[in-house]
Amino acid sequence: MAAAPMTDRQTLLELVTALRARLEWCRDTGAEVDAMAVDGRSAAPAAAATDDDSVPLNAAPRKTPMDGSVAGAGRPTAAVPPVATSAGAPVETLDLLVSPAVRAASDLPQLRAAIGDCTRCKLAPHRTNLVFGVGNPAAELVFVGEAPGRDEDLRGEPFVGRAGQLLTEIITKGMKLRREDVYIANIIKCRPPQNRNPEPDEIASCEPFLVRQLALIRPKAIVALGTFAAQTLLKTRTPITRLRGAWTDYHGIPLMPTFHPAYLLRNPAEKRVVWEDIQQVMRALGLPR
Ligand code: URA
Repeated sequence: MAAAPMTDRQTLLELVTALRARLEWCRDTGAEVDAMAVDGRSAAPAAAATDDDSVPLNAAPRKTPMDGSVAGAGRPTAAVPPVATSAGAPVETLDLLVSPAVRAASDLPQLRAAIGDCTRCKLAPHRTNLVFGVGNPAAELVFVGEAPGRDEDLRGEPFVGRAGQLLTEIITKGMKLRREDVYIANIIKCRPPQNRNPEPDEIASCEPFLVRQLALIRPKAIVALGTFAAQTLLKTRTPITRLRGAWTDYHGIPLMPTFHPAYLLRNPAEKRVVWEDIQQVMRALGLPR
C-alpha cells in the first residue's frame, strides 16, 4: 500500500531535524557546513567507530568519560541568552521552529510563558496539563525523564505517580536532598495517549524547550532516566544497559544515564546498580554519603 503523503509541516519538521543534526555534527567535528548535503536520510553521520552497534538517531554520540569529578566542568561558561554549547555553537540558533520568545526567554517562568498553551504537536488535544518541570531553577542536578504519565498529566507536575515516588525516595533517602533542591523535567511535556512512546515529530517540537531549560539552569550534572531520555539526549540507539553507569557529555554538561524508576518497579533487583550510578553523581557533586 502506498505511504500516506507527508504534510508540509511533517516535511518541514523532517528537514529541520536533519538540518539540526547536520549542524550539530559539523559543530562537533569541525567539519564545514555543506547545505546541499542536508536531507532527511543522509544528514546523519555514520555511527562512531567506538560505538559500532549503535545507530545514531540524527548525530554521532559524544562520549566524555569522567574521572569522577565535575568541579568547574559542569557549567557552560557563556551567559544566557544566547546559550553556548561546549563546542561554542548556540543551541537555540539551530532550532528554526522555536519562536523568538522561546529563544529569548532568560528565566524559566519566561520560558514557560513563551511555550504558552502549546499546540505545536499532535499531543496537545490529549493532555490535561502541560508538564513543564519542577524544582530549583538554579539546581546543580537535573533529572530528565521520558514523558508525563496519567498522574503527571492530571497534576501538571513530573514524576508524581508510583515511579515518581521511587524517584523522590532516591533523591530524599538516597541522596539526602529535598525534591525542591533538584530540577525534574521530561523530554516531552505532554502525555502521549496510552503512555505510548513519544514520536519523532513530537520530540522535534518539544526537545528545544528542554534544551532551553537546561541552558537556563546550567546544572553541574544531568541524570537521564531510562532508555528514552538517554537515547534522545545523546542521539544514540545504544541500549540503556550499555549506557548506564558511564559519564557522558551533553553540550558540556556531564550526563549520567541510569535506569528509569518505572523499570525499577518491575525489576527491583536493578535498584542496586542505579544506586551505584547515583553514588557516582553524588561523588561528582561533592555530596556527602
Ligand atoms: N515517567 C516519566 O518519564 N516522567 C514522568 O514525569 C513520569 C513518569
